Amino acid sequence: FQPKVLAGRRVVITAGPTAEPIDPVRVISNRSSGKTGYALARAAREAGAEVTLVSGPTLLAAPAGVARVDVESARQMHAAALQAVRGADLFVAVAAVADWHVANASDSKLKKTEGGGAPELRFAPNPDILAEVARLPDGPWCVGFAAETENLYEHARAKRERKGVPLLVGNLAQHAMNAETTQLVLFDAQGEAELPVLPKMEAARRLVQEIAARLDRARPR
Ligand code: C5P
Repeated sequence: FQPKVLAGRRVVITAGPTAEPIDPVRVISNRSSGKTGYALARAAREAGAEVTLVSGPTLLAAPAGVARVDVESARQMHAAALQAVRGADLFVAVAAVADWHVANASDSKLKKTEGGGAPELRFAPNPDILAEVARLPDGPWCVGFAAETENLYEHARAKRERKGVPLLVGNLAQHAMNAETTQLVLFDAQGEAELPVLPKMEAARRLVQEIAARLDRARPR
C-alpha cells in the first residue's frame, strides 16, 4: 500500500541522457538508461502527483498517467524544463545532462576526406538546468542527483551547496548506470541517510516518501 503523499502536487522530472548533435546524423551522448528517472515518475504518479517527465532519448515507455515531453539536446531539455516548472511544486533533476555541446556542429553530414583527416570538434558549456530552476523566485522545491564513481559523499555534499538545492540524492554511477538495482544516499541540511540497495522501482518509491516528507515540511499545503 502506497499512501498518496504527493496528492495535489505538480511534479516535473528530467530523465535520461541528452544527445548533442555533431551533424544531422551523429550525436555525443552518455550511458544513462533513464530507468531511475522513469521509475521516479511512476512512483510520483502512484503517490498522487501530476507528473511531467522531460526526457532525453531512451528506450522506455512513458509510465501510465505521466505527461512526457521528448527532447534531445541539453539546450532543448533546458527550454522544456523551464516551461514545465511554471507553477510546479517539485522539480527533480535526474537526467544525465551533457556538460558541453558541440559549438561547431555541422548543418550537413561531415564527409571523410581524401587525405584521411578528421574533424576537429569545439565544445561550449550547456546551461545548468537544476541550478537555474533552483534560483527561480517562486520556483519549485528542488531535488538534484549526483552519479559519482568515487568519493560520493564529498562530491555530493559539495554539489548540493553549489546547486543550491535542499536535497541531493547520490548514487554510485558504476552501480546505477544501466543497472536494475541502485543504492541511494540522501544529503540534506540535516546530514545524510543511506537507503538500502534496492530494485530501481522500490528505490523510487522510498525516495518519493522521503521527498514528500521534506516537501510537506518546507511547503506545507
Ligand atoms: O553538475 P552535475 O552534472 O554533476 O550535477 C548533477 C545534477 O545536476 C543532476 O541532478 C542533473 O540532472 C543536474 N544537471 C542539470 N543540468 C546540467 C547538468 C546537471 O540539471 N547541465
